[in-house]
Amino acid sequence: MAKAPICDYEGSEYQKTFWEEGGRAYEDAVEAIALRRLLPSHGNHLLEVGAGAGRNTARYTGYQQITLLDYSRTQLEQARARLGDSPCYRYVAADVYKLPFVPAVFDGATMIRTIHHLKEAESALQQVRQVLAKDSTFILEFANKRNLKAIFRYLAGKQSWNPYKLEQVEFVELNFNFHPRQIRQWLHENDFRINGQLSVSHFRVGFLKRHVPLGILKALDSALQWTGGVWQLTPSVFVKSTLAEGMPRQDFAFQCPQCGFHPLEALEADITCPQCSTTFPYEDGIYDFRLK
Ligand SMILES: C[S@@+](CC[C@H](N)C(=O)[O-])C[C@H]1O[C@@H](n2cnc3c(N)ncnc32)[C@H](O)[C@@H]1O
Repeated sequence: MAKAPICDYEGSEYQKTFWEEGGRAYEDAVEAIALRRLLPSHGNHLLEVGAGAGRNTARYTGYQQITLLDYSRTQLEQARARLGDSPCYRYVAADVYKLPFVPAVFDGATMIRTIHHLKEAESALQQVRQVLAKDSTFILEFANKRNLKAIFRYLAGKQSWNPYKLEQVEFVELNFNFHPRQIRQWLHENDFRINGQLSVSHFRVGFLKRHVPLGILKALDSALQWTGGVWQLTPSVFVKSTLAEGMPRQDFAFQCPQCGFHPLEALEADITCPQCSTTFPYEDGIYDFRLK
């Protein structure tokens, strides 16, 4: 099967240009509130899918260990520069469509602002499901195609795609918005049971962000996030689910993304698969499981 295309952030200054200098203090603050509300108070090993430069990693305080996974090595380098080398963090460059872990090694996962870039989103969710143990918590953020602005634009004839249609919309190459029902359906089909939905970023409007103090927008968004349990009309939605079926948590080990051989021990050194002889480099604290 052809490899799914990847929205590659290699070499991108996304953290600096989009978050730190891009006027996104409001979005960052309300996402932090949503995560605080949805994260379990404790856990063993969390997989952060599409971790980027680690903007959210320090927010996962209840977990003893966090594996940051991103396709871009330079994003992980930025994350490592921010978070440092600690036995609590493991940095892994890999493709979410070919996760390099043995089944059921994590008891938590997050995917924030990442499914947004996935053309084959359900296939990625299947991969995440595979590496989670039974009863794991999965927090997924997705860009919502059925948001209020999209509905108004569609009704006013200013937007060609229909926000009510179930299929995802690719509004810019490799940038997708999803229908909430489609996301719920995929989660359900992959044995996730939804236990919370938050509507986030109600006031993502340049004029409001410029003229209303951040504290007020934060407080209002925080008060409104709960409406996500009833309707989802915001550009961003957070869904918390629990994996209802699966194995109990296994000891951590890698799995060869080329041939599926496992276990491969995490030795903080290059790893060569004894079955297919592919070597996966370990350099400057980052495992590299990307397939050439
Ligand atoms: C918009 S950034 C979000 C980063 C971080 N989660 C945040 O919210 O700040 C999306 C990230 O997903 C990563 N990504 C995109 N496609 C991927 C794939 N197929 N496998 C792994 N990571 C991927 C990109 O490299 C990028 O770092």
